[in-house]
Amino acid sequence: VLFTPAGMNQFKDHFLGRCKLEFTRATTCQKCLRTGDIDNVGRTAYHHTFFEMLGNFSFGDYFKREAIVWAWEFLTDRKWLGLDPDRLSATIYLDDDEAAEVWLNDVKLPADRLQRIGEDENFWPASAPSLGPDGVCGPCSEIYYHGDTGEVEIWNLVFTQFNRVGDPPDNLRPLPSKNIDTGMGLERTAAVMQGVDTNYHIDILRPLVETAADVCGIKYEPDSENGRRLRRVADHVRACAFAVHENVYPGPNKEKYVVKRLLRRAVLDGRQIGVREPFLHKLVGKVAELMAVPYPELGETVKRVSQVIEGEEANFLGTIDGGLDRIHRIFEQMKKQNRGMVSGAEAAEMYQTYGFPPELFETMAAEHNLTFDWSGYQAEMEQHGIASGGG
Ligand code: ALA
Repeated sequence: VLFTPAGMNQFKDHFLGRCKLEFTRATTCQKCLRTGDIDNVGRTAYHHTFFEMLGNFSFGDYFKREAIVWAWEFLTDRKWLGLDPDRLSATIYLDDDEAAEVWLNDVKLPADRLQRIGEDENFWPASAPSLGPDGVCGPCSEIYYHGDTGEVEIWNLVFTQFNRVGDPPDNLRPLPSKNIDTGMGLERTAAVMQGVDTNYHIDILRPLVETAADVCGIKYEPDSENGRRLRRVADHVRACAFAVHENVYPGPNKEKYVVKRLLRRAVLDGRQIGVREPFLHKLVGKVAELMAVPYPELGETVKRVSQVIEGEEANFLGTIDGGLDRIHRIFEQMKKQNRGMVSGAEAAEMYQTYGFPPELFETMAAEHNLTFDWSGYQAEMEQHGIASGGG
């Protein structure tokens, strides 16, 4: 993986029994970065690229019963989070009778608040048995909070007990020990605890969204299109501030490309709000300030990180207007030709000439109900011997 997309990444060898165990239990607060949900960022209340995941882990120590009972205690006991138990529900994997038994008999969760769901939701990684990837996996149990405005998954308890090897059938081998991997979204849990309707309004994010609005010279209106853009800007700049701080600079390949793509997407949001000058870099200080308690080190690199981000902004701003014109002409032409798919050649031109990441072009195409020819794009880039960025 290019980044740490889950709290358990660093523990794979522990689960596989491939390293000497110096401890059999752990708890973590893990910086995570995933782009799998990127199209939801800003639009939904609860998605991010960068977020913090809280976890507790067992390497052959406690297992399912303790993990479920302790999760419930942590969520509901007044000593801990003190959430109203009537607002919680849980899901389990289809045939996981053992988990059902714990939820119903130990926790005494009412049966109508326990649901059995298939591997696409209640296995981790999702759909691992059928679709992979190979490696450690297991059935899971998710805990949902039902708020006034909707429900949100706040905690995923994974019973990591298999190593997937190849395609079904018989591809789930028991691991040397039965393990626990749990992941609780810090921002989601904070939203529930602080009684706000979206993660973007919690105490460590709302000020960043508001500052983004200030820097862009507009007022933050949560329900507007610009409100969605500002939330995306806040998410992406936070992600990039952490990445650049850790010396992952924007560039043409792999993790560097992810940073470039996120920065350019945020620049485009700013451009669509009406900003013509680099602005993202002005938010780095705010990120450092808001995250200073757990990550004081961010404060030491604000200048360097701001400069790197400003450089990338300036690069893209140099071609963005020409690029947007070109994209609109392409869309008009496609409409005239009754063509529904952006061609590989068009996408390659947009990246090479205007620096438009293909994912960005794809998102804009989707807004016009147009599809995107990824394999054509990759073939085109390979032909020119150029790194194709994402895909
Ligand atoms: N590894 C699990 C997840 O990321 C907890 O959801």
